[in-house]
Formats: sequence, C-alpha cells, structure tokens
Amino acid sequence: MTRIYLSPPEVGAEERRMLLDAFDSNWIAPTGPDVDAFEREFAERVGVEHAAALSSGTAALHLGLMLSEVGPGDDVLIPSFTFVATAAAVTYLGANPVLVDCSPSTWTIDPELVAEELVDRARQGRLPAAVVTVDLYGQTADYDALSSLCDEYEIPLIEDAAEALGATYRGRPAGSFGQAAVFSFNGNKIITTSGGGMLVAESADLIERARYLANQARDPFPHYEHSVIGYNYRLSNLLAALGRAQLKGLDSRVERRRAIHGAYQSALSDLPGIRFMPIADYGEPNWWLTCILVDSEEFGADGEQIRLALEAVDIESRPTWKPLHLQPVFKGAATIGGSVCASIFEQGLCLPTGSALSPGEIARVVETIRAVPG
Ligand SMILES: Cc1ncc(COP(=O)(O)O)c(C=O)c1O
Repeated sequence: MTRIYLSPPEVGAEERRMLLDAFDSNWIAPTGPDVDAFEREFAERVGVEHAAALSSGTAALHLGLMLSEVGPGDDVLIPSFTFVATAAAVTYLGANPVLVDCSPSTWTIDPELVAEELVDRARQGRLPAAVVTVDLYGQTADYDALSSLCDEYEIPLIEDAAEALGATYRGRPAGSFGQAAVFSFNGNKIITTSGGGMLVAESADLIERARYLANQARDPFPHYEHSVIGYNYRLSNLLAALGRAQLKGLDSRVERRRAIHGAYQSALSDLPGIRFMPIADYGEPNWWLTCILVDSEEFGADGEQIRLALEAVDIESRPTWKPLHLQPVFKGAATIGGSVCASIFEQGLCLPTGSALSPGEIARVVETIRAVPG
C-alpha cells in the first residue's frame, strides 16, 4: 500500500504542459511572461489590484511588514497559534512579536484580546507598529472586528493567508483584507510551485516597491546601481508557469478539500472524545487541513497514540501548530493569554487532506483511527 501523506502536491498534464512551454521559451529566469501573467491572474482571483510573485510566503511576509513601516524595536501583534514564519519575518526587521492567544471558537487571533491590548497600549502611548492576522488551516480570522480595530487605532493590518487561498470571509476572498496579504506556494499548500509565495495589495506603490526590493533593489540604470539594500526574493518564471496551471484548478481543489473535511466529519463525529476544529459562522474555509481534537479520557487514547497508529500503517498525520509562546526560540517574548492555543496543541491532530486523496484512502485513515481505543 502506498504511503498517505499529510498534504502532498497534486499536479497533472496541464502543469507539465505549461512548465515545458516555459522551459522551451527559454525564459528560465526569475523574470518573464509567466511571472507577469501569474501575478495578474492571481490578483484577479483574490480580488486585489496588485500582486508580486516571490520566492516564498516568508519572503512575502518580510517585505509586507517592511513596507508597512515595521522596523527595529517595534512591537507587532501576531497570533501565538501559527507556523513560525509569521513571527520569524517580524524578527528579521528587528521588531518584537507579541504573541496573542486564539479564540476557542475559531482558533484564529482573539479579537477581544487584541482590543484589550490596544486600549492598554493606546493609554500608555505605545501602540504596536502592525497587527498580523493568520487565516489558520484555511479558516479566516474575524475581519469585521479586527479591521475596525486596526482602522480605529490607525495600525496596518497584514493578512497571513498562506494557508487560506480559496477561503472566504462573508463572501470576500481571503487575502483581500488588510493593507497587504501573503500567500505561500510551498509543496504542502492548496496550490504549489514547489516553493514560492505572493504578496498582494491594493496599493500599486507598495507592490512596485516590493518588486524592487525583491530584485536586489536594483535602480533603473543600464549598469548595476543600488541606493538601498534589497533581497533576492523573486520567483522563477518556470515556477510561475507551474503556479498558473495550479491556479486554474483552484476551485476544484477547494471543493475536494471541503469534501474530504465533510467525509471525515461524517465518519468520525460519532466517536466519543473526537471533536473538529470549530467552524466560524462568518465564512467558508478552504479546509487546507482537517484538524481534530482528541479528549483522551473520553476517546480512550490520545492524539499521539492516534498519530503513531496511523504512522504504523504508513499514514502521515501531524500535531497542530505548537504555539509560539511555548517555542524555545520565543522564550521570554511578550504573550497575551496563551492557555487556549496551548490546550489545542495538547489535543490537536491534523489529518491527511491532499486534494488527490481517494475515498479508499479516507476509509483507511478512518478505520485506523476508529480502531485505536480498542
Ligand atoms: C501561516 C503560514 N505563514 C507563513 C508560511 C510560510 O510560507 P513559506 O513556506 O512559503 O515561506 C506558512 C507555510 O509554510 C504558513 O503556514
């Protein structure tokens, strides 16, 4: 039996064709017609005016924060319950991540904690330089609350939508909130370029500046002229061609991941002690990953026992994100709350959700989980 991976890439004939067309065109460079077209098509899909294709989601976060004027010594509010890249990008700028707990009803950054923190900080005259929201496992943060807070205090909101391409909040696409938003095309994401990312924004200036910084800050001269330090953050034209082919299939990929989520729900919800990540009533997740919480007393085994049982039959699963305030590297970082995401981490497990997962493979996962307490 073949191994079932957590979220492997799914590519087909169209990806192969577009990649080889780009290859044959000899645009084998971090610039070219597929990069331009990918940026245009992606911006249109997300409903934002402009997009810059970059080498990773982390690079996009770095530039998005930098272009929102985050700098050394600044504080930036981010959720504690996220992948490390959200915080790493803050530290690249010499700024300090302030790690905010998530709401138990959405697992995304808790707007009430953000509100309390902003009231306190406004009183003390030390507002953060930015707020970064994360659309976690494909479910968006609560933008009515968070956008109005950021507007009220005039703080830029950066949306980390790395996991949420194709999700919506009150009908609006993930990635269309905040002054800049970030996507990842890492190999495990809903669409992939093997590695890559996108920064999107309404502001043409912001995206123009991001392209400039991503291209070693090369000034417009025939020779190489540089007036500031930049980065080599551009996406290869070959990978952009792959991304264009993947984007064409986005709707069916989202549909598939939602169907997989539904299949797990109907096959596992009757088990005592198994609960699913809560679904907020404000949007439609893309269900990049399906996550369960395991109450070991009720279920008769814990999440790690389930993970090991799956691994024993060659099925990959993974604990939910370990909160950043519990990571050794962020020991001592300012933290607001933290017990909600810590308890999700204790009980949480992400199940395989690749868009090519077959009904037979879902049944293999389900049967293995159901047999664990036995
Ligand atoms: C929430 C979140 N932010 C940022 C990233 C970073 O993206 P990349 O791996 O493309 O740098 C990822 C995933 O990899 C992610 O899940």
